[in-house]
Amino acid sequence: MRLVMLGPPGAGKGTQARMLQERLGVPQIASGDLLRAAVQDRTQLGIEAKRYMDRGALVPDDLVLKLIEERLRKPDATAGFILDGFPRTREQAEALAAMYKRNGALDRVIALNVPDEEIIKRISGRRTCRNCGAMYHLVFDPPMNQNHCNQCNGELYQREDDSEDTVRMRLQVYAAATRPLLEYYERQGLLVQVDGIGRPEEVSARILKQLGVDALNSAKARTKA
Ligand code: AP5
Repeated sequence: MRLVMLGPPGAGKGTQARMLQERLGVPQIASGDLLRAAVQDRTQLGIEAKRYMDRGALVPDDLVLKLIEERLRKPDATAGFILDGFPRTREQAEALAAMYKRNGALDRVIALNVPDEEIIKRISGRRTCRNCGAMYHLVFDPPMNQNHCNQCNGELYQREDDSEDTVRMRLQVYAAATRPLLEYYERQGLLVQVDGIGRPEEVSARILKQLGVDALNSAKARTKA
């Protein structure tokens, strides 16, 4: 299954993509994670990308496409993927379609709807594990120890682009460059809009219902019985 998670910063794309990858058995591929790894490794691409990321702007398409194309060529992505944070511009969406033009690029595009004020709350409380990438929220999903990961005891940190001013900039960039993709995918009959408010498990159940995964699983269970 090939899915795209669309939505504003902090809407819960990463949280939901991680839950879905377990359920669907295809990897989450997050452009933001790939870029942050390049920044941490101080590659030429990472050094250039950081200039844009720090101020909440989009990294130029050619840099992002290079990373994504390389990642999609890995064997674990042949059975499918959940793209999280990509595509974000019309150019990226068209490049993705061109990569898979022979057999249809995508099965569904899931758009998570969350109002801006909720987004600011979610992002300002987010903490991420430096070691394993696990994500927490100081109020909604607090770690047992405020500074360390429940799973690996790694240090928790706040992303540099998560200050309120930068988040407001990221929201503006989303509205100008990425929101038009909703209409682009709607016209292709791929868009599924999901209410992103509620506990992560509730949002996940809504997504699975839209994908027909529950129906699929019960049909399999019936066949086995
Ligand atoms: P990226 O890393 O993609 O950030 P983003 O899209 O701004 O999204 P976030 O990761 O902030 O949020 P999310 O929607 O994944 O929410 P999450 O699940 O973490 O991009 C960062 C930067 O990289 C960009 O600004 C840009 O510079 C660059 N970039 C990346 N991709 C690019 C591209 N394709 N082109 C160009 N540039 C690109 O949840 C947020 C918080 O809320 C967490 O604390 C979580 O625990 C909590 N939470 C989640 N769900 C719920 C819930 N249901 N209820 C309560 N809390 C919840």
